[in-house]
Amino acid sequence: MLAFFVLEIIMSDYLKLNLANWNDRAAIHYRDEAGGYRVKEFLNGADNLHGIEDREIGDVKDLRIAHLQCHFGIDTLCLARRGASCVGLDFSPVAIAAARDLQKQTGLDASFVEGNVYDARSLIEGHFDMVYVTWGAINWLPDIARWARVVSSLLKPGGTLYLLEGHPSLFTHDESTADFKLGYDWRTPMDRPVIMDEATTYTGDTATFANTTTHEWNHPLSDIINAVIASGMRLDYLNEHEELAWQFAPIMVPVEGKRRMWVLPEGFPRLPLAFSLRAVKI
Ligand SMILES: C[S@@+](CC[C@H](N)C(=O)[O-])C[C@H]1O[C@@H](n2cnc3c(N)ncnc32)[C@H](O)[C@@H]1O
Repeated sequence: MLAFFVLEIIMSDYLKLNLANWNDRAAIHYRDEAGGYRVKEFLNGADNLHGIEDREIGDVKDLRIAHLQCHFGIDTLCLARRGASCVGLDFSPVAIAAARDLQKQTGLDASFVEGNVYDARSLIEGHFDMVYVTWGAINWLPDIARWARVVSSLLKPGGTLYLLEGHPSLFTHDESTADFKLGYDWRTPMDRPVIMDEATTYTGDTATFANTTTHEWNHPLSDIINAVIASGMRLDYLNEHEELAWQFAPIMVPVEGKRRMWVLPEGFPRLPLAFSLRAVKI
């Protein structure tokens, strides 16, 4: 019984703390003083998607896309600029206000909904050709099976999930160590999240923020894939990549000639840093 109450407290606190942290980060990211999110370039017509998703998603023209954990909507609006009709969802009101502001400035075909991703089915109307989830989303969620059921419920039969994420092997490493040694379990139990305390964000912005505590979960590939299959989808492909869209650890170096991609330095054993999958709703 005591264990049950402890679990309840952790699980209710994690959402409040993560939300406060993401509100702080969203404000900094939208100001984009370090230029990491390329807001100015986007407003001048540039596409913001990275090479991996650009190669993998194919033509999205005329597709209805639900973008979960859309942050301040810049990628959502890039999909809309490619001809899709998009709905973005995020739990941060600061991020959603910024997304709506960007939409107003560009007039692109996208709308934005504020809410917890687990409530997406009741918050968003209709069924979609694609659910799009990329770069740093599912690590904020304790229950990957529940997430997959939500994704599946948003898709029409034949619709696809596109997921592109940091690799669970990467997240077993302690980014704060100079030699990047192993530091975390390969599977984070739901009731024992990895608790971090950081006052700056990953974009290179120097601004500090007040709400520094976050709760995260590392989900093994097998858990993710089995959750996707159990929720009524068929796996189309699984790819692993040696590049990542943010500097996860200080030892990582930018990829020459590519914008906003990072790799492990020469001489360090190769690891998969990201993975992507496509699954089709049966
Ligand atoms: C690293 S960002 C994702 C960035 C995204 N790839 C993009 O297009 O910019 C993670 C996002 O997840 C959101 N988030 C975290 N937990 C959430 C939850 N339970 N429900 C909805 N959004 C959540 C945060 O507010 C944040 O915007």
